[in-house]
Amino acid sequence: MLMDDGDRGTRDTRELIHVTRGTAPSRALPLARLSQLGWHVHRAPDVRAVLKLLHRDASLPHAGLIELRDGFGEHDLAALGPALSAANVGWVAAVEPGQLDDDAVRRLVRDYCYDYVTLPCPEAVIDTVIGHAHGMARLACHDGADAAEVRLEGIIGDCAAMRELSRVLRKAAMTEAPVFIAGETGTGKELAAMAVHRHSRRHDQPFVAINCGAIPANLLQSELFGYERGAFTGAQARKIGRIEMAHGGTLFLDEIGDLPMESQAALLRFLQQGTFERLGGHESIRVDVRIISATHHDLDDAIAQGRFRADLFHRLCVLRLRQPPLRERGADIDRLADHALQRYSQEGQRPIKGFAPCARHAMHTYAWPGNVRELINRVRQAVVMAEGRLLTAADLHIDEAGSTAPPTLEEARDAATREAIERALQRNRHRLVDAARELAVSRVTLYRLMVRHGMREAEAERLDIA
Ligand SMILES: Nc1ncnc2c1ncn2[C@@H]1O[C@H](COP(=O)(O)OP(=O)(O)OP(=O)(O)O)[C@@H](O)[C@H]1O
Ligand SMILES: [Mg+2]
Repeated sequence: MLMDDGDRGTRDTRELIHVTRGTAPSRALPLARLSQLGWHVHRAPDVRAVLKLLHRDASLPHAGLIELRDGFGEHDLAALGPALSAANVGWVAAVEPGQLDDDAVRRLVRDYCYDYVTLPCPEAVIDTVIGHAHGMARLACHDGADAAEVRLEGIIGDCAAMRELSRVLRKAAMTEAPVFIAGETGTGKELAAMAVHRHSRRHDQPFVAINCGAIPANLLQSELFGYERGAFTGAQARKIGRIEMAHGGTLFLDEIGDLPMESQAALLRFLQQGTFERLGGHESIRVDVRIISATHHDLDDAIAQGRFRADLFHRLCVLRLRQPPLRERGADIDRLADHALQRYSQEGQRPIKGFAPCARHAMHTYAWPGNVRELINRVRQAVVMAEGRLLTAADLHIDEAGSTAPPTLEEARDAATREAIERALQRNRHRLVDAARELAVSRVTLYRLMVRHGMREAEAERLDIA
């Protein structure tokens, strides 16, 4: 069946792009038969023609059959890259016997193609292989649609545990009850807290976070409750605390498990009375805030050991959410990895098409102690360091056995710098001037470091959300 360019077919039809550099397709390819089997075959003599076909609808899955019988050089590879990287095409290469001995051909097949056939090829084989490639492209298109749907909340996840979490989260958003979020480090507790706020009736009011673990114990109460001028040496002007800042909105008490006993008592008093006094002040201030708290510590354990007050815990934990660890999320690991790759793919030297099977396998066997944050960081650094078109387990520094390669000195230094900046920004409510002062660098130097470590974009996004 011949298609003219106006004939788009429906989403159920099977589109096949046939790339051939020669004037006539190889006789060894049973193209007429493929048309009879229901494939809509579009001939594309060059990259422009392929891209034109693909741009008609980026969400329509295609199979691609690329004839490599004339051989491909580095130049051809570079030119074809954008067409071969399109997510909505599953490519199959047709090669002549012996052609895979050629380095460039081998790389193209390995990095871009779902499969290959050696010519001459029986009709049934090519129909099956192209059918599978088309099926894979279909899945990719479907995933893209799913991702677009969940990105509304910024939370990617479709496994049973994440669906359940999303259900509870939406319900929690409809109430005013305090929410407690448990979960290992990097599982997305803060993301969940923001989602509850954004879906609540308070969404257009402030979302104020305080990291109880990152603020020195002696400053915590003044951060929470604020102070009056002259409350202590150095208190030259009245300062509004985070609780007051959150009036009308949501107060997120992060790392609540690190709250010192003294502050636990003060917080409990506020939660019971709904009022507080600024340090050094006498005026009783009433605020309307919704409390969300989170920690990666086991609070039951902390209560048993007398490090956390049970009465405070019961006040905080009316609705309980649990962020599942990444290793329990099955196919979400792939979704999150694909999302991270899409997000950071511009940072690499060359276009990355996806993950090699060894990388997928490794990602599913690795324990992910740092959870989603670790996954994002590994994909991001792999994009920069990778030499092929597909990210491998080695690029991710995960070997098949699940153990990780130790960081180089430079990687360790970069990680420490990034961590120190992140913490300083958190402590200083993301004010660059104050964070720079604390880190003993100039504002310009801090800005440069943030750009170098790719933190500016995240910071801009965060401020958008706030
Ligand atoms: N389901 C998800 N979808 C997309 N991004 C996610 C998801 N979960 C976590 N992330 C990302 O992972 C990173 C860590 O998330 P977050 O800060 O919310 O984790 P956390 O549980 O608060 O970690 P910690 O205990 O270390 O404070 C963030 O960049 C966040 O955007
Ligand atoms: Mg957090």
